[in-house]
Amino acid sequence: MVSKALLRLVSAVNRRRMKLLLGIALLAYVASVWGNFVNMRSIQENGELKIESKIEEMVEPLREKIRDLEKSFTQKYPPVKFLSEKDRKRILITGGAGFVGSHLTDKLMMDGHEVTVVDNFFTGRKRNVEHWIGHENFELINHDVVEPLYIEVDQIYHLASPASPPNYMYNPIKTLKTNTIGTLNMLGLAKRVGARLLLASTSEVYGDPEVHPQSEDYWGHVNPIGPRACYDEGKRVAETMCYAYMKQEGVEVRVARIFNTFGPRMHMNDGRVVSNFILQALQGEPLTVYGSGSQTRAFQYVSDLVNGLVALMNSNVSSPVNLGNPEEHTILEFAQLIKNLVGNGSEIQFLSEAQDDPQKRKPDIKKAKLMLGWEPVVPLEEGLNKAIHYFRKELEYQANNQYIPKPKPARIKKGRTRHS
Ligand SMILES: NC(=O)c1ccc[n+]([C@@H]2O[C@H](COP(=O)([O-])OP(=O)(O)OC[C@H]3O[C@@H](n4cnc5c(N)ncnc54)[C@H](O)[C@@H]3O)[C@@H](O)[C@H]2O)c1
Repeated sequence: MVSKALLRLVSAVNRRRMKLLLGIALLAYVASVWGNFVNMRSIQENGELKIESKIEEMVEPLREKIRDLEKSFTQKYPPVKFLSEKDRKRILITGGAGFVGSHLTDKLMMDGHEVTVVDNFFTGRKRNVEHWIGHENFELINHDVVEPLYIEVDQIYHLASPASPPNYMYNPIKTLKTNTIGTLNMLGLAKRVGARLLLASTSEVYGDPEVHPQSEDYWGHVNPIGPRACYDEGKRVAETMCYAYMKQEGVEVRVARIFNTFGPRMHMNDGRVVSNFILQALQGEPLTVYGSGSQTRAFQYVSDLVNGLVALMNSNVSSPVNLGNPEEHTILEFAQLIKNLVGNGSEIQFLSEAQDDPQKRKPDIKKAKLMLGWEPVVPLEEGLNKAIHYFRKELEYQANNQYIPKPKPARIKKGRTRHS
């Protein structure tokens, strides 16, 4: 009796224990399932976050491209005048992506003409005219004028030719070809389509002049076998070609003898006095003067030149016309002025004189004044400040790892110089 009661008591305790154990096991199971579930969710959420950020990474450049595209659709061009069909001209500018050519492009586009720029980008840059790309009046053609060109135009501004000594001396044969064959090709085009052609000639046709200032009837003093001859003689023969086409074929020609010009979009490091001095002053380097610095130059601001070119093209003056600023300064004065305007405290350093460097250069612009009603109006300091501003921006651009080409040294065959 006692033992039976004892047994019942024990089994009741066991059952309770069993229930308790079962309850605990159940709780543990639920807890582990919940834990797994929570774990899985956080892994999933993490994964989702990672995928989302990956997608974001890939989509961002696309978004940027869309923004750029949208911008290009709504691109604001500089203001362009409306010209009626009768007044609107189809104008070709060879070398139009260069320093002077790009400013001329701006003027003619803003005046409402249709402008085609032809350039082989030897010294020119697309960047100089990129603000017109896409405009209905503008066309940019990558073409070398040494090859013939077949297009329909009313006027041709023939500017294609390297203009600074390091650039035209880099490949003298190519400089000769551009100024001779290139000019023949453009005159041939002018003859075929009945267009008027303006040649961008140069004060270098006067060489190292024996008369001062130089007027258009001076024949010049050029060394035909010196390092500058490829350019000087190239331009002289280009002028000869213009007048041969005028006399023999009746082509209407205009010849601008351009004197030193400066302004924004000049080449960095092209070895010309103004760009040299500005760059050196901005970088805190010594301003290098070749010789004693007493040789003189007269510089015109690029907008003055562009106005002169357009006035000459639309005039009835077919003989050569000087376009330049007669305000003459010594190289040393230029160095001092630029040094003061930049205000970087650079020194002036004197180096030995360059070969065939003209001692004096000053245009006589009586003819331009009388026959075109043209004369330069931009004061030197105002022009220099604009050029300094441009070069400062270009240096910042360069600092942001943008590539700005340096002038290449002249091509010289091993063992003998080109000009020996
Ligand atoms: N800037 C001056 O002080 C100055 C002075 C006198 C004359 N000029 C004359 O004015 C014109 C323009 O001078 P710039 O200062 O603008 O020089 P630049 O070097 O900036 O421009 C010349 C342009 O012609 C292009 N070009 C060169 N060879 C070519 C070829 N074979 N085919 C097609 N394009 C070619 C170049 O890529 C460049 O865009 C030149 O003919 C130059 O002789 C300039």
